[in-house]
Amino acid sequence: MFRVLREACKSVICQSFLNAPKSLSRTHRLVTRSISISKTSFSENLTDDDLEESEEFRDMFEDVNTGFLNTDHQVFVIQPFIKWGKKMKRNTTREFLLAESKALVTSIQGWSVIDSTIISVLSFDKQYVFGKGNLEMLKNEVRANPRISAVFVSVDVLKVHQQKLLQDIFQVPVFDRYMIVIQIFKAHASSPEARLQIAIAELPYLWTRCRTIEDATNMNITKGFLESRRMVLMEREQKLKKALNKLKSQREMLRNNKQRQEFPVVAVVGYTNCGKTTLIKALTEDAKLIPRNQLFATLDVTCHEGILPNKLKLLYVDTIGFISSIPTTLIEPFKVTLEDALLADIIIHVVDVSNPDYLQQKEHVETTLQQLEIEQKVLEHVLVVGNKIDALPSGQALTEEYDLLISAKRGTGLMDLQEKLQAMLLETTGRKKMTMRVRNGGVEYQWLMKHTAVSSVREDDTSAEHLLLDVIMTEAWLNKFKHEFISSARKRG
Ligand code: GTP
Repeated sequence: MFRVLREACKSVICQSFLNAPKSLSRTHRLVTRSISISKTSFSENLTDDDLEESEEFRDMFEDVNTGFLNTDHQVFVIQPFIKWGKKMKRNTTREFLLAESKALVTSIQGWSVIDSTIISVLSFDKQYVFGKGNLEMLKNEVRANPRISAVFVSVDVLKVHQQKLLQDIFQVPVFDRYMIVIQIFKAHASSPEARLQIAIAELPYLWTRCRTIEDATNMNITKGFLESRRMVLMEREQKLKKALNKLKSQREMLRNNKQRQEFPVVAVVGYTNCGKTTLIKALTEDAKLIPRNQLFATLDVTCHEGILPNKLKLLYVDTIGFISSIPTTLIEPFKVTLEDALLADIIIHVVDVSNPDYLQQKEHVETTLQQLEIEQKVLEHVLVVGNKIDALPSGQALTEEYDLLISAKRGTGLMDLQEKLQAMLLETTGRKKMTMRVRNGGVEYQWLMKHTAVSSVREDDTSAEHLLLDVIMTEAWLNKFKHEFISSARKRG
């Protein structure tokens, strides 16, 4: 399936979007860090109109079954599981995979899980996915329960014919992970940027569908029908390409954003639902942040201003949660956002140590981070933080090492975390801590208050007119200070 998907992407999508991740990446790199700092989002330029779907495109979308996604569903979840061989998933259990599949379903508003089962299969490529006996058993189970309105077969992507055959057997709509995840993404995407990424992610799927129909000789499809579908998809591609160009045109403006260069940046990453938003909320007291017990609650990269005990201001970047077993084509556009977000000085990798599968989740995040285009310097400054220690079953000890163990919800360990960040940021950003002796209320005093992080102000025992300020500043600002007050004074004197 992936071969087909890749081929479809290569031959069609890549003609117009081959460079999309790269160009988008470069644009976003500059964009992400400045979005909330400047309080001007590029969404001022990129609007919903840029992404609006044509009527023909919507019809086509409904045709490939996604129309059924827009109503409430009571879902029967089937977790196929390969027992042995190369394709068998290691480092996890079938029970956990099922739990994650169920969580995906319940992340969609109005959807619930009515029943579920785990079925062993030899491969996901068989015509009906399941063996004869299991298929018969599943058919009886689904048909006997009139409350079941849809079946979720939790494989990355079902082939068109697999989906159609299973639908004929079950007599209800059948969805795969791709469709479910896209539905969740759509519900949670609040900015045009996130919607653009989803729209881009949808295209390979639709092209594949289009091609597979074309290849399936037993389907009575006319050439004209296929041609019109191709046209609709090409128009859609053109539209999204224009939207991408709009983002690019803002690049220069954003690159020069001065504030962006002044703040140290700490990106917070982790498996979905591990507590990233809760942690940032606790560190910044940003009332607008609402942590939710949902997968992919955060789809947009958002920046939040915080201040450390040493008065150093910084930006925390909240990112999309990681999840394993997501079709690569679907997650690809979001990697771009992640790479942008990870143009940080430090990364905090949050691990939900109360989750039974946390080791596999931790490993998945680590592997993905390695695969992203992130500077080595940043990867050397990853702080691994075990969260939700308040929810650890009593007596359960953690076998592996963490830089810190915290409970973002209860506030446990946050002071230690901030102190660690302070020390690391001084090292990674080349900021210096120093004591300055200045005239009380003088221009130097005012300048330092405005441009540096002043962590303490003391009286100078040797002079009633002077104060001692403990400040943190970059080399660049120190040079500016020297230029403004020392060289100028020399020239005047
Ligand atoms: P995504 O946006 O889906 O990636 O989630 P997230 O990683 O931002 O997680 P979020 O902060 O939204 O929290 C997910 C759930 O975990 C919420 O119900 C939080 O209340 C809960 N949670 C977060 N931190 C803690 C903690 O320290 N202890 C406990 N018990 N629950 C926590």
